[in-house]
Amino acid sequence: MFFNFFKKSSSTEVEQTKPLTQNYDDVLKIANFFKGETGVTFDKQTSILKNKVTTFCKHREICSFGELLKSLKQDSVLKQALIDALTTNETFFYREFKQIAQLVDIVKKGGQKVEILCAPSATGEEPYSIAIALLEAGVRAESFKIFGIDINQDAISRAKDGVYKERNVRNLSKEQLSKYFKEENALFILNDSVKSRVEFRVQNIFEPSFKNIGSFDYIFCRNMLIYFDKETKLKAKEILQSLRKNKNQEIFFGHADLF
Ligand SMILES: C[S@@+](CC[C@H](N)C(=O)[O-])C[C@H]1O[C@@H](n2cnc3c(N)ncnc32)[C@H](O)[C@@H]1O
Repeated sequence: MFFNFFKKSSSTEVEQTKPLTQNYDDVLKIANFFKGETGVTFDKQTSILKNKVTTFCKHREICSFGELLKSLKQDSVLKQALIDALTTNETFFYREFKQIAQLVDIVKKGGQKVEILCAPSATGEEPYSIAIALLEAGVRAESFKIFGIDINQDAISRAKDGVYKERNVRNLSKEQLSKYFKEENALFILNDSVKSRVEFRVQNIFEPSFKNIGSFDYIFCRNMLIYFDKETKLKAKEILQSLRKNKNQEIFFGHADLF
């Protein structure tokens, strides 16, 4: 009796904190909304999506995916929070370095001022890697400008801070670390000499405003198309191609971003 009494009261307590109408079943509607907004598809990962969005809703006391959808259409702050929660920002310095080395060679040979776009930049490691590689090769800081964009607001704010954990800088040499970073409490703080070469902006590549960002000598678009379906990849490629100054210049896509 004593035991049953406790069992009952604890389950009642849990039920009392739960809203009555919780319904996190119709995950496909959320998947379609998210794909329509960002291009990112969860077609083969609906259970991962369901878990992430359920947690997102519970933290905000949103009782169903239906309620979430309704709020997302009216609340741009909530929409941005969902984008920040569901996009994958994994990146690190000198990732797939071969292409960066290729770019450095071209820029050195050209000897002219260049503008480079990194779309997406995530937390900044890729555009900063390009800046470091160009400086290491003796290219003058005034001879290049890099623009980093990403749909994830939190990632862009971290990119602007330029503070990294050891695992993010693992591919850099000790010399590069001491030349371009200040180490403090196991964090690596990027110097202004590199930060000043990169400008960041929160931007969705499918928003019409992206087409007004300007035109670029070189474009890096690595490890984003892997999250898109075939049709969306082609759409993204077409948009990026329209931003090239020289229509013969190939875009640097990642090795996994197959069409
Ligand atoms: C894995 S990171 C790639 C970062 C870096 N380019 C690299 O290769 O290390 C993928 C990034 O794509 C961004 N992304 C996804 N959809 C986007 C969109 N429609 N517009 C802009 N960025 C997007 C995500 O926010 C995420 O930061």
